[in-house]
Amino acid sequence: MSLVDAAQQLDGAAPLREFRDRFDLPEGVIYLDGNSLGALPRATKARIAEVVGQEWGEGLIRSWNSADWIALPQRVGGKIAPLIGAQPHEVIACDSTSVNLSKLIAAALHMRSGRKAILSEPGNFPTDIYMVEGLEAQGLATRKLAERDALIDALDEDVALLMLTHVHYKTGETFDMAALTKAAHDAGALVLWDLSHSGGALPVELNKCNADFAAGCGYKYFNGGPGAPAYAYVAERHHGDLQQPLTGWMGHAQPFAFDDDYAPAPGVDRLLAGTPPILGLSALEVGVDMIAEIGIDRLIAKSRELSEFFRQAISERLPDLELVSPTDPTQRGSQISFRHVEAYAICQALIARGIIGDFRDPDILRFGFAPAYVSFEDVARAVEALGEIIETGDWDRAGFKQRAAVT
Ligand SMILES: Cc1ncc(COP(=O)(O)O)c(C=O)c1O
Repeated sequence: MSLVDAAQQLDGAAPLREFRDRFDLPEGVIYLDGNSLGALPRATKARIAEVVGQEWGEGLIRSWNSADWIALPQRVGGKIAPLIGAQPHEVIACDSTSVNLSKLIAAALHMRSGRKAILSEPGNFPTDIYMVEGLEAQGLATRKLAERDALIDALDEDVALLMLTHVHYKTGETFDMAALTKAAHDAGALVLWDLSHSGGALPVELNKCNADFAAGCGYKYFNGGPGAPAYAYVAERHHGDLQQPLTGWMGHAQPFAFDDDYAPAPGVDRLLAGTPPILGLSALEVGVDMIAEIGIDRLIAKSRELSEFFRQAISERLPDLELVSPTDPTQRGSQISFRHVEAYAICQALIARGIIGDFRDPDILRFGFAPAYVSFEDVARAVEALGEIIETGDWDRAGFKQRAAVT
């Protein structure tokens, strides 16, 4: 039986197959990049048309009240909360992940005054580290990096915060959230988890792990659309002490009192700075609702089956292709990466065939398996195309080597 036949058989009985039709995927495209930008739910188109046409077009400014726009950050955050193991009042949807990280790092520094170091790993997603550098330039923080296996030993008396990305963006490797959180607490530090590649894809238990802070993207597995608002989590026990530097009017206890003096809103509401982006939040809400409807357990189960099918088929067809993700599916997120010196050109050759994965500098080919819409047949066809491209050297064309601005 061919790989594609075997995949079609699996699809016939596969869980979640009914959800694929609820996404607006272009004909002839195999989309293995939902870990970077999630696909478009059909319901988002209708919802955005409604928000634009009725709530904005007809309701105009009245919709802040009549359509309850004003409560969207809390409402969407509250829906994300159970999907990341948090309580609804501990999560708010706002700003970008980068901005939320900066606010939460600053909040941690305030709670651990006397300590200045923010500990992370080299090769973490760059924005996480850059945000520390921004605070360092202002004399508020010091950047400290240690390799994965040296992180616990690096937790000295100067570390205010351990900041890690739960699922590594390049390799998909996961951290043991409970163990690292405990180690940081034992050393007197707080912990901030970047959930960008975990939220909406795999089980996360922020409360059970005793995590202090978290932030993550809305445009990846939550399918919130390009530049969708992100989310931020602060454990309830820190709400009283929570202080962050972007003290904008929307985080004020009474924004419409227009007082000269800032008074923070309760809890995570004080993470808001400016006016919430209603179109972005409305699209994100649709994506979050669908992920909640499917349920994280079903999502992770299918994504592991898809990624294992892919990994095993590649190891048979292209045994020399170096896997950089963990072999054990329980040790990785919803993605798989391989190393190849011509990764960029190979990725372009795949895209030319309608198979969209992605490339991460300098030599990583990364494939995401968003289980709500990826099928086994998609995976089989991607393996066949990748095999052909590498075996025939079809990547070796000038057009495939020319780097685009966004890779
Ligand atoms: C792990 C991680 N953190 C942060 C970000 C950046 O998020 P944003 O652009 O919303 O600030 C990304 C983007 O891909 C990411 O993968």
